[in-house]
Amino acid sequence: MTKAYEIVDHKYDVIVVGAGGAGLRATLGMAAAGLTKVFPTRSHTVAAQGGIGASLGNMAEDNWIWHMYDTVKGADWLGDQDAIEYMCREAVPAVYELEHYGVPFSRTDDGRIYQRPFGGHMSNFGEKPVQRACAAADRTGHAILHTLYQQSLKHDAEFFVEYIAIDLIMADDGTCQGVLAWNLDDGKMHRFQGAITVLATGGYGRAYFSCTSAHTCTGDGNGMAARAGIPLQDHEFVQFHPTGIYGSGCLITEGARGEGGYLTNSKGERFMERYAPTAKDLASRDVVSRAMTVEIREGRGVGDDNDHIHLHLEHLGAEVLNQRLPGITETARIFSGIDATKEPIPVLPTVHYNMGGVPTNYRGEVLRPTESEPDRVNPGLMAIGECACVSVHGANRLGTNSLLDLVVFGRAAAIRAAELVKPGQTPPPLNKASADAALERFDKLRNASGAHSTAAIRGELQRVMQNNAAVFRTSEVLKEGVDLVDGVAAKLKDIKVTDRSLIWNSDLVETLELTNLVPCALATMHSGEARHESRGAHEHEDHSERDDVNWMKHSLAWIGADNSVRLSYRPVHTYTLTDEVEYIVPKARVY
Ligand code: FUM
Repeated sequence: MTKAYEIVDHKYDVIVVGAGGAGLRATLGMAAAGLTKVFPTRSHTVAAQGGIGASLGNMAEDNWIWHMYDTVKGADWLGDQDAIEYMCREAVPAVYELEHYGVPFSRTDDGRIYQRPFGGHMSNFGEKPVQRACAAADRTGHAILHTLYQQSLKHDAEFFVEYIAIDLIMADDGTCQGVLAWNLDDGKMHRFQGAITVLATGGYGRAYFSCTSAHTCTGDGNGMAARAGIPLQDHEFVQFHPTGIYGSGCLITEGARGEGGYLTNSKGERFMERYAPTAKDLASRDVVSRAMTVEIREGRGVGDDNDHIHLHLEHLGAEVLNQRLPGITETARIFSGIDATKEPIPVLPTVHYNMGGVPTNYRGEVLRPTESEPDRVNPGLMAIGECACVSVHGANRLGTNSLLDLVVFGRAAAIRAAELVKPGQTPPPLNKASADAALERFDKLRNASGAHSTAAIRGELQRVMQNNAAVFRTSEVLKEGVDLVDGVAAKLKDIKVTDRSLIWNSDLVETLELTNLVPCALATMHSGEARHESRGAHEHEDHSERDDVNWMKHSLAWIGADNSVRLSYRPVHTYTLTDEVEYIVPKARVY
């Protein structure tokens, strides 16, 4: 069968799969080979809007320890505090590094980086809101991504663009040796061998029907890791952003509320005052999304069907909107046909971010946990960015900590790779059997002639996820979700691919993506059904309290080749990296 394919071999010290913010930050620090399914500056990081979190203190006093406290609290005590300490401490130099690389941040009158308020960003351990989000208007991800791409070119990184990663190539002892990828442009298969392979493939928002994520966010790294026998961690924690545009799901940045925007219901009430008396509209995202959902459920939604909420910006005036929020003003016009300087924007909580992912330590090394060694490293494999679960976001991510995670852990992975890899060292022979198995999977899918189209299976998956793993969950709905998602997964055996070409075959690309979305969805639904508590984004109406005694632990979902799911757990890190800060003990989470 392999004779049917032309195979090209490559050897690099490090291979990075994905060229969004995390992939590019790692690539430029490693001068690695970068494989990417879309041109780097089209990666989903480009869509990040409101800012990158760092306690620069440009607008008022701030401190990285307050940032750490907010992140631990936002994560509802499921985050690993050693990793959170690392991220919040490194945030300040990371943002100055971006500034020196050339990111065009917005400026204060005296020329410093402009910072705006964001949800859950507070000073002095939760006392009052603080301006911590370093912003380039409302196009911060765009500014960062383009700058990192240019820096990568300057650092002689080599890019393989529009290459679709099929599977990891693993040695018999479990060491990762590289990745098999398909070049869409000439149809050849490429075996990339490296001492380290870094997954930086983004999230899996497209497992849902309505999300702010790009169509490319299909959990490719998570899928490949799962097939290589790595468990998926904390997938039940899926973030709904409060302000997706009603209908299209396009993101309206939380920075809009940071600049003074507010939400109202059909009675014109600023209802967040009831749910979060201190932070109000700037409470953490899970809190705001739940409040909006309750308002709609209790009949106080706006519109003909009382099924959404209004976001008001019109009182800010055209000048502020043009200067601080030009992108979302345009987005509102295009996707909801309204002029945000004059009318409220119709919004609805929309899937935005996956807190879970491939388990790693704070250096980016992927873990293959065992019961006796929960932090066991899998040699040769790293994961960074949204596909990874470090875990700094725990059960709910704070806005702006995503861009921060990308650059801090992209850099951390580069530092660790430099310690582990001697440049130009001769790698052990490639495990051909593993590469052949990957090619066989590809060939089987390419020739699949079953009863169900990829689009039909994906549509069904997205509806199940949207209905059964939403903002509020119950035992009954999750149990039904498990049965339904298992049923969807079973249909993969009977899939139909109509286009067999090896060049620019979007049917086959979408089929490969679907085989990555399915393990992500299985992990989400099964882990959610098993978790009998409410924590962060997992709001379980039959178990409405957080249960630190039984559930302060990371879920691990091991996905079998037959799509069976086995769950186990590993402890949350309840220690810090240095003596400079103490472990933050769990307490009630109020805003
Ligand atoms: O609302 C936003 O601008 C999104 C930022 C984030 O998810 O960090």
